[in-house]
Amino acid sequence: MKCTRRTFLREVAAAGFGAMVAGGARGAARPSDDVASESSRPILDPNLCVVMSDLHVGQPWAEQTFKTDRSYDYINDTVRRLVAEILGMKTLPAHVFVLGDISVCFGEARDYEIAQEILSPLAAAGIRLVVTAGNHDRRAPMAKVLGDWIAPSPVAGRFASVTRLPTFDMILLDSLVEPDPAADDNSVGRGKCELGAEQAKWLEAFLADTARPALVCAHHPAWSIGINKQMVKSPKVCGFLHGHNHSWQENILFSSYARKTMIRMVGIPSMGMDRDIGFGVVRAFDDRLELAQVARDYYFPVQVPKAERLPLWDRLVKERHGRRLTFPFDKLA
Ligand SMILES: [Fe+2]
Repeated sequence: MKCTRRTFLREVAAAGFGAMVAGGARGAARPSDDVASESSRPILDPNLCVVMSDLHVGQPWAEQTFKTDRSYDYINDTVRRLVAEILGMKTLPAHVFVLGDISVCFGEARDYEIAQEILSPLAAAGIRLVVTAGNHDRRAPMAKVLGDWIAPSPVAGRFASVTRLPTFDMILLDSLVEPDPAADDNSVGRGKCELGAEQAKWLEAFLADTARPALVCAHHPAWSIGINKQMVKSPKVCGFLHGHNHSWQENILFSSYARKTMIRMVGIPSMGMDRDIGFGVVRAFDDRLELAQVARDYYFPVQVPKAERLPLWDRLVKERHGRRLTFPFDKLA
């Protein structure tokens, strides 16, 4: 399907304006559903993907084994609403990539069951989900519940993956350092982050070999896991996306003053917890990627009634929504 800048803008505009109520995007029966023609069904576009992060969905506060200091009872509904919005896009993305922190805080199995329930309408619509872990996740319960959405990993014990899209490879790294399993406490989320020797070795070999452009993603920023210079120097890496900070963050990575190469590194917001609330829509062209920001809310530290919102919050949303960033495949062009 041919996509121009104009149709891409229409897609982004449709994300939200065509939004449907939660649970109604695909599943709810409408009188015309049973007579809907083939042509009225949404198209899955392999050159379109959504990148989301920091869902932080969870069971009710009272049922959590380890308590946070806040109940965050609005998060699940916020994520549900944004999922419905994605399903309301005129052209559906063939892939949704999830950059970790799926659990509200402590990586409990029940959190992942709720995540599965909230995200499964995407899978039911034919969209392929690929997830990786963040510092608030735990791999064992995550794999047990969300195993279908964890792509085969080239690195044992890590949720790394390469998804081959028509014009580029989407690489998801796993930057989670698990807390000591013997520490039966609430230390999840407080650990350090790293790729580990094996994953770093695999990444280096993969990037040395590949002839295809690559967009590299992890839960943590590239400089937090020590690969920022590698990302700039690798000829095929066109950009880096991360979560963790719950903010639309735009950075440029440079390798050194001697080299003129650079890439964008962009922070993806949270789907429901706090600060920037939204997701990214990536459109692939033959020579570049374009990332459009879907900004739906802003609040900190928690959602508050409209009358109590700082005026700046609404301004931030307005300024950020619809912003587009380009990631050229040829870094030296
Ligand atoms: Fe997070």
